This record gives sequence, structure tokens and C-alpha cells, in this order.
Amino acid sequence: MAATSSFLTPGLAAQEGHLASLHLRRDAAIPVVLASKPSTEQDAGYAEGMVTNTRFGSFPHSTIIGTPWGSQIRASKVDTGSRGRVTSKKRKASELNDEGAEDDETKEAESADSGFLHVLPPTPESWTYSLPHRTQVVYTPDYSYILHRIRARPGTRLIEAGSGSGSFTHAAARAVFNGYPSGHDQSAGLGRVFSYEFHKERHEKVSEEMKTHNLSSLVTCTHADAYKDGFLLPVGEGDARSQSPRASAIFLDLPAPWSALPHLTRVTTEEGPSALDPDSPVYICTFSPCIEQAQKTISYLRKYSWLDIQMVEVNHKRLNVLRSYTSLSYSGMRGVNPYPEDVSAALDHLKAIDRRAKDFHAGSTSLPPSAKVKRIENAQTEAHSTMFKEGQVIHRSEPDLKTHTSYLVFAVLPKEWTEEDEQKEARKWSGKVEISAEVPKSHRQMKKETKAKRKSREAQGQDHTNGVSWEQAGTYDASNAMSLD
Ligand SMILES: C[S@@+](CC[C@H](N)C(=O)[O-])C[C@H]1O[C@@H](n2cnc3c(N)ncnc32)[C@H](O)[C@@H]1O
Repeated sequence: MAATSSFLTPGLAAQEGHLASLHLRRDAAIPVVLASKPSTEQDAGYAEGMVTNTRFGSFPHSTIIGTPWGSQIRASKVDTGSRGRVTSKKRKASELNDEGAEDDETKEAESADSGFLHVLPPTPESWTYSLPHRTQVVYTPDYSYILHRIRARPGTRLIEAGSGSGSFTHAAARAVFNGYPSGHDQSAGLGRVFSYEFHKERHEKVSEEMKTHNLSSLVTCTHADAYKDGFLLPVGEGDARSQSPRASAIFLDLPAPWSALPHLTRVTTEEGPSALDPDSPVYICTFSPCIEQAQKTISYLRKYSWLDIQMVEVNHKRLNVLRSYTSLSYSGMRGVNPYPEDVSAALDHLKAIDRRAKDFHAGSTSLPPSAKVKRIENAQTEAHSTMFKEGQVIHRSEPDLKTHTSYLVFAVLPKEWTEEDEQKEARKWSGKVEISAEVPKSHRQMKKETKAKRKSREAQGQDHTNGVSWEQAGTYDASNAMSLD
């Protein structure tokens, strides 16, 4: 059985060796693989073992491992030796990894006041906003819509090109996941992602990430040029590419998606079988930033017999709903507009200022110096007790949501339908339903026929009266008769 991934089956608590999302605040998280001991020299040097440093303090992994997902973790005072992380005191990574070598040396963490974070299971969404960008990536509003439209569901075999920074790859892996491969028949009926990238370093990085995130049993990363080499896979290492991924969903995030389309047909060539699932319709989406690219893709999709071609632009807006407080009685409080609510509040305020000025010039100190502070305190106490239901509910759109505009082109390539398939289905259904050679008429067809019949009846009526209908003829006769009188 393959190692489980915390992206797909996170369990109840953060585990050593698994990825966790250290959530600092909204849209800010640090993805880390939890380890009680450092495995590289760069990470060594802390008496508490492996530590992640953030703007809210230092977090030894020993304080995170084993805590239920969603827990709040307090920062710790970490011991970095006499002055910073002294290199001479660093032990070699290999030594640190030796079983038992470190056990009695790891110091228990002591909590600090600097801050806290929450430990969350990683998701494709949190990975998308925290991943190391190597290219432009596909963001959540786009990939959630794309995966829905290309019908990526548990058990789907999906082709993706290029892999880029692996943002879409993680979301696709979750969408198609329906179990980890185990036993002899490793992949029967299981969802898989086949990701292709021609840039060597990017391919290596994404393959490494798949291993670290325990997704490599579901995601096959291939170093290939999708335009030239197509999508067939080698049977064994070093073999020629001749195995079909049998995909029924395709996502192309390439500069020239039309150049990859000749490799996505149902035709078997000398090079090998079709890369598509012969038993299913195939759904495709291409992602292009320019309309000219989308247009060219559409014309090639037509050329290669793709149907139901549609272009969509996802224009996502996130709304921030909040209450707006406007009152002088809240003055001094955060997030409040300190303006008078109405005319009487403004007059009261002016009167108070006037009174204070008069007192000042008269040399009187009827208002003690701390009165203003007291007034604010009272107002704040009062406001706190009711504030949650006061204030006007307003919403603001958040224009800063990370996404980048692109044109999404969708199409479908139906399953090939042969005479054999027709006969097979006829045999299968003939015992259950009466199969008539006469194809049932559509609603549109029936409407068209009714209209044609009506027209022909009208035409016949006109013939009888020499260009005037029966009704018109009747009217004509009557009026004619009257005028004769
Ligand atoms: C915009 S990035 C893809 C980003 C990815 N969808 C993500 O969400 O992270 C486009 C990638 O396609 C790769 N690419 C371009 N032409 C290619 C080709 N002919 N075959 C395979 N990959 C290609 C580039 O190297 C680049 O990494």
C-alpha cells in the first residue's frame, strides 16, 4: 500500500513526515513537512530539534507533531546556542539522523509570548497560495471550474500539460482520487493524473514534490514535449513511449495548445495507440491568456472533430461582509468612522466643545482632565455589549484576490460509435424496449412541421379566393353587399 497523503487522507492529527499548513493569518500559510529532527545542515543548530521561524515567532516541530488538526500552537523560546545558530556547534545532518543519537539532546520547548499559529491539513487551495512559484500558476477560482467542466471525478484518468509549478496538479490529484494503489493490479479503476513538462528542472521539482507529498502513486510526472512527443508513456524505464494513459479528461496550460491536439485523437498510429480512453467521451480545457490563442485553439479543435466548443472567462470576486460603525460615541475605537450619526449628535458634540472652551476661559476645571478618557471608556464598554448587532451591514469586493485572467476553451470528443456498437446496444435493449426504425421527432421538429402545415393550409385557402383568404373573402363580400344597398 502506498504511503498516504495528508492532502487526501489527513487523519485526525498532524503527523511526522507529512506536510502541514502552518496558518498565520488569512491567505498566509507556510507549508512544512513535519520532522522532529532536522535532516539538513541548514536546518540544524536548534536545541529543540527542527524549528520553523515565522513573523509570529519560532515553532519547534515537536510542539506541532501529534496535535489535532486545527489546534492553536503557541510560539516557543528557542535555544540557538550562545549567539545565533553557531555553525561550529552544528552537527552533521547524517549524525542527526542516526537513531538515538539526538534523543537525550533535544530540549523541550518553552512557550513564548510572541504569537501563535494554527496547524491545518494541507489542501490544494492552501498549497496554491503558499507554493514556491516557478511559473504563472492556475488559481483556485479557475481550477475548481475547470475540473468541474472536464468532469474530473473519483476514478478519472486526467492528462495535464505543462506541470509548471504543480498548482493544478494538486487540485487534479484530489479530484480524481478514489483510493491508493495496492496489491498486484495497482491501478485498476483508480483515478490518475498524467502530468507532462518539457522544462527539465520544473519536471524534476514537481516530481520531487509529488514524492514529498505522498502523491506519486497517483500522479505520473513525465519529462516530455507535448507538441513533439505527445502523451504516450514508456512501459518500463528507458522504453519507447507506447503505453496509453487512456485519459478521459485533459487540461492544457501551454503557450500553443493547438500544437498538442494532433496527439489527442482517437487514431492509432505507427507510434502507438491513442492517448484517449476509447470507452468514454473525452473532455478538454485549454487555458490561454490571449484571445488570438483561444481562437486558434478553437479552429484546431473543429479540425480534429471536437464538439460543443465553448469559451469562458472566470471573473471571480470575493466579497468581504462587515458592519460599518459611524458614531462619535465610539470615537477612539478601531475600525469606526468617528463622525456624528445625525444632526443632534453633531449639535451635542459642538455644545460639549463650546462648554469646555467656556470653562477653560473662565478658569474653571469643571471637567476633570481624565473626563474625555472616561467618556471614551464608558462609550466603548457600552458599545462592546451591543456592537455585534449594531452598525450597518456593508460589503466590499476584494480586488486583491490572486488570479490571472485567461480564456478557458472547453470541448468534448464523443466516444466513437461503430455499426458494431449499434448492434450490440440494439441486442441489449431489444428485450426491454421496442426499438423502432423511426426516430422520434424532437419538439423543434414537430413545431416546424405544424408551422409548415399551417402555411400550406393558408396557401390553399388563398388559392380558392384568388389571393384573398376565406375570412378576408367573407368580410369583402359583406361590405360589398352593404355598399350596393
Ligand atoms: C503556465 S505554466 C503551467 C502552470 C501550471 N498549470 C500550474 O498550475 O502550476 C506552463 C508550463 O508549460 C510548460 N510547457 C511549455 N511548452 C511545453 C511543451 N511543449 N510540452 C510540455 N510542457 C510545456 C512550461 O515549461 C511551463 O512550465
